[in-house]
Amino acid sequence: MKIYKVLPDLSKERHMKIWHKALHSQWSASDLPWKKPLGIRSPKLLDQMGRLLTPVLMGEQAALYSVSGLIPVLGKTSEVESQFYLTTWAVDEARHTELFTLFYHRLGREPLPIRRFPQGYLFQSAIVSDDPAEWLSGVLVSEVTAKKLMEEFRRVDIDPLLTDIADGILLDEARHLGFNHIYIEDKFKDLVTEDPEAADRLETHLHERIRGVHELLGPALDALHDEMAALGIDRIELYDKVIDEAAHRLQKSIDSGRRLAAREAAVESAEPALAVMAV
Ligand SMILES: [Fe+2]
Ligand SMILES: [Fe+2]
Repeated sequence: MKIYKVLPDLSKERHMKIWHKALHSQWSASDLPWKKPLGIRSPKLLDQMGRLLTPVLMGEQAALYSVSGLIPVLGKTSEVESQFYLTTWAVDEARHTELFTLFYHRLGREPLPIRRFPQGYLFQSAIVSDDPAEWLSGVLVSEVTAKKLMEEFRRVDIDPLLTDIADGILLDEARHLGFNHIYIEDKFKDLVTEDPEAADRLETHLHERIRGVHELLGPALDALHDEMAALGIDRIELYDKVIDEAAHRLQKSIDSGRRLAAREAAVESAEPALAVMAV
């Protein structure tokens, strides 16, 4: 264990703000009205839902696994504010895992086993990384996919409880994406100042990583093409929207970090001149 300081700085204001927001926004599966009648009657559609939700439950468990694993990693670099936030992110993913497990009980169905859905497992495995920036850019693809699927579940509204679950998860996902932005932005703000060439290399690497993870999403969605069609979800449109949004979000965070670094550099170079003018 490495703790460099007993008294943490806790000076990253936005990290602290999103951590407090996450603390105040917690909710529980036991708050939901599980006794509401199931909106799906057809056995065929129940079977299809059982298969379609497989990557969702797999993704929630993979997220719980990887978020929890990053908490000690951030401790090694004394990123205590980020550690704080990730404790709530882990709680969120644990809640999502519980929600979909209970939803499977409600459906009376089981998810596909890994041997019948290796594409989903390969997609999730590609996201795991011990490097926070690398993990955050890979996880952007699965978080955006989850967000799009929850929006679709809300739109088709085939079961009142699934709609409630989607509503709650969308609020959680908005925070996860918010933290992703803050962390990558900060990373680039610092790196551009310290080593601009390393910042350029990291930008290229993170985009390559997003493309690599995204390529594995295609086969996972293909395997569930018929199930998505049964619900009126367009697989091609979903895939295209995910890559556009994930790449756009990553670039926005990087550009914003670069702008902040340039602004700080401009203020620093103006300070001596302002001091002379004040005399
Ligand atoms: Fe989740
Ligand atoms: Fe998430």
